[in-house]
Amino acid sequence: MSNNFDEFDKQHIWHPYSSMSSPADNFKISRADGVYLFLEDGTALIDGMSSWWSAIWGYNHPILNLAIKKQLDKMAHVMFGGLTHQPAIDLAKNLIEINDKKLNKVFFADSGSVSVEVAIKMAMQYQISQDKPSKNKLLTIKGGYHGDTFGVMAVCDPINGMHNLFTGILPKHYFAPRPTKNGDNFVEFEKIIIKNHHKIAAVILEPLLQGTGGMWLYDKSYLKSVRNICDEYNILLILDEIATGFGRTGSMFAYQQCDIVPDILCVGKALTGGYMTLSATITTEKIAYGLKNLNNGVLNHGPTFMANPLACSVANASIKLLLDNDYQTKVQNISELLSQNLKKCQKLNQVSDVRIKGAVGIIELQQKVDLKTIQPEFVKHKVWIRPFGKLVYVMPPYIIKQHELDKLCDAIYKIISKL
Ligand SMILES: Cc1ncc(COP(=O)(O)O)c(C=O)c1O
Repeated sequence: MSNNFDEFDKQHIWHPYSSMSSPADNFKISRADGVYLFLEDGTALIDGMSSWWSAIWGYNHPILNLAIKKQLDKMAHVMFGGLTHQPAIDLAKNLIEINDKKLNKVFFADSGSVSVEVAIKMAMQYQISQDKPSKNKLLTIKGGYHGDTFGVMAVCDPINGMHNLFTGILPKHYFAPRPTKNGDNFVEFEKIIIKNHHKIAAVILEPLLQGTGGMWLYDKSYLKSVRNICDEYNILLILDEIATGFGRTGSMFAYQQCDIVPDILCVGKALTGGYMTLSATITTEKIAYGLKNLNNGVLNHGPTFMANPLACSVANASIKLLLDNDYQTKVQNISELLSQNLKKCQKLNQVSDVRIKGAVGIIELQQKVDLKTIQPEFVKHKVWIRPFGKLVYVMPPYIIKQHELDKLCDAIYKIISKL
């Protein structure tokens, strides 16, 4: 398998959450097609990760490829200051439509983290503009993850999050205990709001499924209570659907299962079907017009690659695929297969919990895994699964077939049972 690694890569290139002092081996991929990632030596791995939630149609999809090729012949990029273009206009229309026209002001950015930074700026500017400058803190729940940039790190889980090293430097916000699966623990959240509402600009949460902060599920009743109390105390609700958006939990957006609407929504990852980096922060008229008493409503943010036309074109094609292809049945089928297949893991001594939500299967182990040893094991079983901490989880592309999903789950069972 040695030709699947690259010594130059190892010595000179940082990979996510990696160290130059003790670099790990990274498997070298030569191409990807459908649900398969191909190693240099030709080995095909079934992809269980959708490249971190994003490649919902797998790889090398003819319709998505064509969208980019057609746009490429017109223009790859133009600045968005003073200029606009049809792919961005179409994408804004699509995003408004799939949010049931309840959110209708769109800010395009270039990564999930940046879209959350923009959401935070919007919320702060809104409160200043409403003559409430003391409302300049955020409230979130423990176990969350919202990205890696500095402002956003401050609302990731303060202890288990990947950013606890910088705790002393980051701004201090409020953290409520994590809701339980049944949506309990709202009382603590409520207490923080009652005591500090005059200092809180916005609540920020991942709805129903917290991702990288621990893959926790919670009930929609909790979110409904959050929405109500935010309304009561003039606190904005920011929902981060960068991981959960575009069908992953069973509906286009997770919030749509909860009979609520956020004030600000962040989307990214699967927005482009995982083809290119693009994100959006989408809000209501109330918030967008409510900024106007500060800086004449100008939102001071404008990334160079804002609304990149190639990314917008492929995003439009991916949303059309979702709408034309009954994604809900696909996600439901994956969900049922994951439930059937992963249930038996529950009986293993090594496992503390199995959780399924939409097309996401999560196995929480008793002990942290050693990535250096477990990663090659998955590859030996010809699947691509990237655990972290105590979590082995899969969120495969929606196009995965039953026999491929069976193989993924089989590999998980075999490998975990030998730990
Ligand atoms: C819920 C959530 N928010 C924000 C982000 C950050 O997105 P990006 O990595 O595109 O900056 C992620 C990435 O994993 C995420 O899962």
